[in-house]
Amino acid sequence: MTKRHLITSALPYINGIKHLGNLVGSMLPADVYARYLRQHGEQVLYICGTDEHGTPAEIAAEAAGQEVAAYCQEMYATQKDIYERFGISFDYFGRSSNPANHQLTQALFLQMRENGYIEEREIEQYYSHADQRFLPDRYVEGTCPTCGYAKARGDQCDGCGRLLEPTDLVEPYSALSGSKDIELKATKHIFLLLDKLTPQLESWVADRPEWPDGVKGIARKWLKEGLQPRCITRDLKWGVPVPLEGFENKVFYVWFDAPNGYISITQDWARATDQPEAWKTWWQDPDQVHYVQFMAKDNVPFHSIFWPAMLMATGQKWKQVDYIKGVNWLNYDKGKFSTSQKRGIFTDTALDLYPADYWRYYLMANCPESDDADFTFAHFAAILNKDLADILGNFANRSFSLVHKYFEGRLPVALSGATLDQDLLAKVTAMVNDYQKSLADMKFRQACSQLRALWVLANEYITVQEPWKAAKNDLNQAAICLSHCLYLLRLFAILVHPLMPTTAVRILELLRDPLAATVAATPFAEGLNFSAYSANHNLGEPVRLFEKIEDERVTELTQQFGGGQ
Ligand code: 2FM
Ligand code: ZN
Repeated sequence: MTKRHLITSALPYINGIKHLGNLVGSMLPADVYARYLRQHGEQVLYICGTDEHGTPAEIAAEAAGQEVAAYCQEMYATQKDIYERFGISFDYFGRSSNPANHQLTQALFLQMRENGYIEEREIEQYYSHADQRFLPDRYVEGTCPTCGYAKARGDQCDGCGRLLEPTDLVEPYSALSGSKDIELKATKHIFLLLDKLTPQLESWVADRPEWPDGVKGIARKWLKEGLQPRCITRDLKWGVPVPLEGFENKVFYVWFDAPNGYISITQDWARATDQPEAWKTWWQDPDQVHYVQFMAKDNVPFHSIFWPAMLMATGQKWKQVDYIKGVNWLNYDKGKFSTSQKRGIFTDTALDLYPADYWRYYLMANCPESDDADFTFAHFAAILNKDLADILGNFANRSFSLVHKYFEGRLPVALSGATLDQDLLAKVTAMVNDYQKSLADMKFRQACSQLRALWVLANEYITVQEPWKAAKNDLNQAAICLSHCLYLLRLFAILVHPLMPTTAVRILELLRDPLAATVAATPFAEGLNFSAYSANHNLGEPVRLFEKIEDERVTELTQQFGGGQ
């Protein structure tokens, strides 16, 4: 790995506080990956921000009784604060409604137009007499022609995920007023001629065989179905204005400006860090950067086809994505998490219930990578009680307590030569390598199970060695065992940092290890240094790292949060 690493996670919509399903699909895995790379001394830029335009923002602002701009400002601050508390280590968390994105989107559009990829067309669009306005896609609802879902939106069906045009809907009505008195009327819009880019896109996708199968499948399906010119304007006020005469009442479609936000937010990052030109080295120097995007699967078409096509149409040498980590759905008790129906666990509530690290570990250990996964509080409690409390927490507690009981809270013996257990170290080293490889490959579930296997190994080690017995007749043997245990804990602290950054620091603080301040930048390999401490190294008091979740509490939470409905 010699290149610089650009990481983006799908920009969360501004229309409300996100649920755990959003977090697991984009920001959390991106953060784990970014932290892992930084721990290897790689240069990383992790960019994200709120996606603020389009009908979702207008609808949410209206429901909140606020002006859209004020609503977005407030919700941006709220979301940013929640992600910070989750420990998401963005280099910059910006906004798609920023002036930089308006300028960039307009400039990109004019280039696409110059290159012949833009066309003005008169189309038929639903006009609502009750609302006295043309209805953008999302303001039309009806029955999905594919799956029969009754509340499909004019842009996409939440039942089957299919992308739709409002005219695909059976029995359409205005989502604003519920009125069925809508009719198709002629109006002028702008189209991006995606079809003209088909050959370029086909070879570009074919050049990326390393993409996950699910992602490749989605991209190829889109191409196979045939790309059509796509309307990129909408009848809204809130959005990026179209820089052409005759389009004063229209703005760009939200998916036409949102992905540009990855670039414009990088521009904002560059300005904020007093190096205004620095964004260019990330976006205009394609060979020097490795770019990975994280998102849930419904976003894949826009990132594997639509945005790459836009960038191609500009004719400029933009950095295109190298790898797309598309994640499946996390369901809530066999149903969907739903922002609008307030079903599931929302990110703010999650943090009120349990520390961020509990969620981070659980969500990554059950990351819906190859299939959808299901959240229940019973499962959450089972995993945390077992993996964190019974295995890792118990090992830490046993080790510290015994060191305090028999060795006055000091490192019992400095390990070297004959005292160092080479077998143990060899086993551990191999397992650490596997774990690192999984993180490098972004296989998060697998990484978590490999990490858990290391904790199990450590528990087996202390169980077999029985230092509490040895302490009674062979203090030296107990000293050697417990010194190994302390070094294993130091190793675990370093390894868990990408997944549980707070826990990593806590363990290192207990070990009174100066790495507590630098673990985010400490190479993984340092964990295998079993001679880091000097003799008599002083340790903190034993504590319980994780609290168990009792059965009664599981029942309470399940009832409180509407699972099983
Ligand atoms: O699905 C979503 O939450 C979208 N707001 C993702 C946008 S990704 C990017 F292109 F902005
Ligand atoms: Zn459907």
